Amino acid sequence: MMDAFERFGLIINDHVVKTPVAIASMAGIVDARYVLERKNHIGAAFIGGYAIDRPTMDAAKEIAARGERKEFLYDDPIAALGAEIELLRDSGVVAGINLRGGSPEAFTAIADAFGDEVVYEVDAHCRQAPMIAAGAGEYYLKNPGALVAVVKALKAKNVTVSVKIRVGVSGDDQKLARALWGAGADILHVDLMDAGSAKLRQIRNSCPLMLIANNGITGFDRMREMLSHGADLVSLARQSDVGTLAGLDAAISRFADDEGWYNSPKQLCRGGDIRALTFCCMPVKECPLLPALKRIGMSKEEYVRMKMDAVKGTPLEAGPNTCFGSLAWCCKTSSPCMFRDMTLASDKLSKREYMRRKRELSDTLMTRVFHDVPSPESG
Ligand SMILES: Cc1cc2nc3c(=O)[nH]c(=O)nc-3n(C[C@H](O)[C@H](O)[C@H](O)COP(=O)(O)O)c2cc1C
Ligand code: SF4
Ligand code: SF4
Repeated sequence: MMDAFERFGLIINDHVVKTPVAIASMAGIVDARYVLERKNHIGAAFIGGYAIDRPTMDAAKEIAARGERKEFLYDDPIAALGAEIELLRDSGVVAGINLRGGSPEAFTAIADAFGDEVVYEVDAHCRQAPMIAAGAGEYYLKNPGALVAVVKALKAKNVTVSVKIRVGVSGDDQKLARALWGAGADILHVDLMDAGSAKLRQIRNSCPLMLIANNGITGFDRMREMLSHGADLVSLARQSDVGTLAGLDAAISRFADDEGWYNSPKQLCRGGDIRALTFCCMPVKECPLLPALKRIGMSKEEYVRMKMDAVKGTPLEAGPNTCFGSLAWCCKTSSPCMFRDMTLASDKLSKREYMRRKRELSDTLMTRVFHDVPSPESG
């Protein structure tokens, strides 16, 4: 049996993620105990949200007092969080804490207390009015400068930072993604609302951050749809019951073992994201490749050179009997092709290994495409 790293190749906060299924936070509900009950079927979990300064703690009390929503209530966030983090130690789940705070200092105080033990997730998602009035949650989507300041302050503490956003609020989600990349964020945790996979693809095409896709992931088809449009993981909140999580974990593990690349993109001409360049042909015809190259500011010649350089000395370099003389230009295994399959057979390369190599090629291409980190202000 493959180990988790071989299967998914996912690392967060220096820990191997054992499956690309995560739990997303629900205030007053998702705490360490909730995660431990589900630990066998998840790779990561974001507990919280937790209020971390006086204005957000008062906001949490106000929300809870209205009786419609639960909140975690306490007067000492460091003590409350410390007890939860302690329970998750050695759980085998990569732990994140979803935090509501109104200033960079509120976040760095928490990072000073817990260092690199957890992932720090900035809650830029909460739309409860008292929380927004306290300068947290959705306030940050309307004030991206303040969000960038929080991310930069946390990164100055050398910790792993995730930002939980809801699409369709900030005005320009791609610009926001690039600003967060520029600020040093590691993970973008995206509530897609009703926007679907096309929105996820836009974000994937804008930045190289690890992406966690969220909202309405209740079955394997929807999970794969997210993974094939750019997600590295998916997360569940409302339907994070043991049965659903176990089903997704089992299905994606089987898929990874059979196919070799658990989050392989669709081909570019079938709506795939930028990672699909790994399956693209030589630029010899009018097809979606040309506008895609234009969008990333790459000439046809640079594209050809980039791919040829990237496969040099690897099993993908060969393939004299394929359309363009190298497996570098060959399609996904889900597109039937006798010539590619004959080449794989004669080179003793399994389809799974071919897809694994295509993933490596895609990673190299992404590094080149997203070479220049934007300044956060430029978006
Ligand atoms: C009761 C409840 C509380 C939530 N609390 C938080 C929170 O504290 N922080 C946060 O980032 N998202 C919070 N969310 C949003 C969820 O993490 C998630 O983004 C949303 O429910 C969509 O995902 P789902 O379809 O899997 O539930 C909450 C959602 C619910 C239903
Ligand atoms: S280069 Fe080939 S795979 Fe890529 S978009 Fe064009 S036809 Fe499709
Ligand atoms: S040989 Fe087959 S797999 Fe390779 S580019 Fe041609 S059609 Fe695609």
